[in-house]
Amino acid sequence: MSDTTPILKLRNIKRRFMLGETHIDALNSIDLDIHAGEFLAVWGPSGSGKSTLMNIIGLIDSPTAGTVNFDGQDTHALADDALTEFRSQKLGFVFQNFNLVPVLSALENVMLPLQIQGVAEAEARKRAAAALVDVGLERFVNSLPDKLSGGQRQRVAIARALVVNPKLVIADEPTANLDSENSRMVVDLMREMNRARKVTFVFTTHDPRLLDHVDRKILLRDGNIVSDEVMA
Ligand SMILES: Nc1ncnc2c1ncn2[C@@H]1O[C@H](COP(=O)(O)OP(=O)(O)OP(=O)(O)O)[C@@H](O)[C@H]1O
Ligand SMILES: [Mg+2]
Repeated sequence: MSDTTPILKLRNIKRRFMLGETHIDALNSIDLDIHAGEFLAVWGPSGSGKSTLMNIIGLIDSPTAGTVNFDGQDTHALADDALTEFRSQKLGFVFQNFNLVPVLSALENVMLPLQIQGVAEAEARKRAAAALVDVGLERFVNSLPDKLSGGQRQRVAIARALVVNPKLVIADEPTANLDSENSRMVVDLMREMNRARKVTFVFTTHDPRLLDHVDRKILLRDGNIVSDEVMA
């Protein structure tokens, strides 16, 4: 379920990559609203623009044209420092290769975004431990990433994304490096966090088998939204 004010409003987003004399239009005139509480999948073939769109939603990349309004803020108006702070407060990220720091324990990895925000050590430790309990990894707080399975690593990454209480979690192909059982588990975990904690998620996948529990699915093809289905 979603309330009426969108967290994110994209209007007429275009993203062109220049390649010497030529160019690629990765996104063509995308309009998209994401509402609080949604669990939304963006799917489509390789090269359709999913990662480009995620990078723009995540305020990692800027569009060539169009506007990105996040939580009432026109993000184009923010200077670099303000944008970085805005991103660290409002967004959580989950990546296909997990992006955990190999020399840090699960707990320390989850503490990192809090420490970047200046949260005191003891408080960060407490919140990170609670986030790891939420994803079912209480027995692994002291484990280094290479002692964890792929599915467990991705659960650490989800805990790290959620620990800052973000407005929106963005996951670009979070299951690309997982087998089908772990892929299912990761999507189910995100779904559970969405339901229980009202966290808004947008994730991408090539795999149509992972779309059966989503609220809404957007199909991209050649940089265009070709369908936007809201499930009953
Ligand atoms: N930094 C870049 N420079 C040049 N072209 C790029 C760049 N990033 C993406 N592209 C091009 O933009 C198009 C969309 O790429 P994008 O990575 O968004 O697709 P995708 O749907 O995420 O694909 P995949 O499923 O393989 O991850 C592709 O044609 C790609 O080659
Ligand atoms: Mg991609």
